Parts: sequence; structure tokens; C-alpha cells
Amino acid sequence: MKKFLMVICAALFFMTAPAQAENLPETIINADDLADEAGEVAEKFYTTLTKAKGDYKSKVRPILIEGAMNTETEILIRALENPVAYRDFNYLFVAGTYKNYPVVVARTEQGLANAAASTTLAIKKFNPIAVINQGTAGGITPEFNIGDIVIGEKSIPTSAYKTAKSLKGAGVDFTTQEMRGVYAYDKATGKFQPYKEYLADPTLLKVAQNVADAHKEFNVTTGVIGSADWWMCWIDYMDFLHEKYGTVCEEMETVAVAQICQNAGLPFIGIRVLSDNITINDDYAPRSATVAQDFVLLVVEDYIKAIRK
Ligand code: 5AD
Repeated sequence: MKKFLMVICAALFFMTAPAQAENLPETIINADDLADEAGEVAEKFYTTLTKAKGDYKSKVRPILIEGAMNTETEILIRALENPVAYRDFNYLFVAGTYKNYPVVVARTEQGLANAAASTTLAIKKFNPIAVINQGTAGGITPEFNIGDIVIGEKSIPTSAYKTAKSLKGAGVDFTTQEMRGVYAYDKATGKFQPYKEYLADPTLLKVAQNVADAHKEFNVTTGVIGSADWWMCWIDYMDFLHEKYGTVCEEMETVAVAQICQNAGLPFIGIRVLSDNITINDDYAPRSATVAQDFVLLVVEDYIKAIRK
């Protein structure tokens, strides 16, 4: 009897298991492997750079440009004249000049905490005049394609919520969450207070939009960047974020850098290129990172002119 029951149970399991599996997502893209592969040449190139001896010295405050990965920094670093590599806490910073103006490129590594730490170190080490965080992002609405650029008029922390209480077994309703914001220093009150969004510096925003107007080879939109330490592929949740906060793309660094720049009172902007958009297809193109860097170099060139005036 016992054996018979076990056979019945096993049969039931095998009959129901495939049905359950059909409801599960097929794959979770291993983005890190693809990005590492795409960044291999840069990794070798970075080891050939002259290593810094002593502290950074520049009479003119540099512009700090950041990217999380090799694919997001290689073009910027190759564009520098007289590049010198600094390492602090194992983060990489490369200082040089671009269009005869001092520029530092930071490879922040991925994620909010790394971006914040690397930015704080860079501010202490290099005393930048402004910070541009750039790189790849995932589109969350179907009207944007891989290779499109998002100029971040603002960035929001898409993991800084308090949710409504629900009882055990009641399930999860993500629409019952309210944004708490993330804390940064407010000069007017002299206190840290929660910010639900961080606005781009108006001059950097204007310069970036002018570059977009003048260079129709880039497909550019201005919008809200959402940052959190996750690669989220739930389309219903994307719709929720888009409807509630106007977010057009998701990534893992911008808001943390905006927060640190708010603490430091530094002009900041985030600029992203879409490397993926799950609302259209499952592709992930880490090499699209070149587009953001090409665009950002034009922004930097015009920003140098703007601050020299
Ligand atoms: N979701 C989250 N982060 C993404 N990135 C690119 N696409 C996405 C996405 N859909 C960026 C992040 C991080 C790395 C995984 O690439 O900013 O640095």
C-alpha cells in the first residue's frame, strides 16, 4: 500500500512539475559574464597605464566622469592625454586631460555602495568641479531601444520604500509602497534629510540637451533614472515605476552618486545608454556603453567651454 501511494505521488509530481516550470522565467541573463568578456581588452590596457606617484596635483579642478565597468570607461580613458592611474581602496581612477582640461575617470564598480564609496574617495583625492556618472541601463518602457540615451533630469532611489503591512500568507502587493527617500545633507537646514529624488545640475542638463540637439546621430531623451541594487525584469513592476515616478530606465549607480554630490554641494548629472530593454526583448548589449561615452565626451567638451566663460 505504502509503495503504491509513493508511486502515485511520484507520478503526480512528474505530471505537475513541467506545468509549474512553464510558468517560471526561462533564464536570468548572466550579465556579468557578458560585460566581463566585453571589457577584457580594457582590463589589459589599464594595466599598462603609468601608475601615480604621490598625490594628484592640478591648479584647475578636474571634471570627474564615472562608469561602473571596463566597457563603460574604456573610451573615456583612451581619450585622456597623459593618463595616470591611481588606486584607492582597490577602486581605479585615471587622471589626465581632455581638450587641454583636467579630467578624472573613475571606474566605480557596480552598485550603489561602490558608486558612493568611489565618488567620495574621488572627491577627496581630486577635488572635482563637477561629476558626471554615465554607463548602461535597462529600458523599462517599449518606446526606447538599445543604444538610446537617457539624460537624467533626475534620479530616484527605487529601493527606498516603506511598504504597507500585510499579514502572513496575504501575498505581496508592490503598489502598497511609499517612497522614503535616501538621506543627504541639506545646506539650508544644516541637517541630513531624506531626498525622494535628486535633480541634475541645471548647467550640465542644458549642456547635455544642447549636445543632443546638435548631434542627431544620437537618439536622446531626457527622463528619470531609477537606481537600485537589482536587475529587475518584472514588467508589471516597471509599469508601476513608470506610472508612479516617471522612471524610463533602471540601473545601479546614479542615485548614490547624486546623493554624495548633494552632500558635497557639487554639480552632478547622470547620463545612460540602454544596453537592454526587457519590455521589447531579452537582448543585453554591454558594448552599447560606447555610445554613452561618445556622447558624454561631447558634453564634457561643451561643459569645459561653459565653465571657462
Ligand atoms: N538593470 C539594472 N542595472 C543595469 N545595468 C544595465 N542594465 C541594467 C538593468 N536592466 C547596469 C548597472 C550595473 C550593471 C549591471 O549595468 O548600472 O552597473
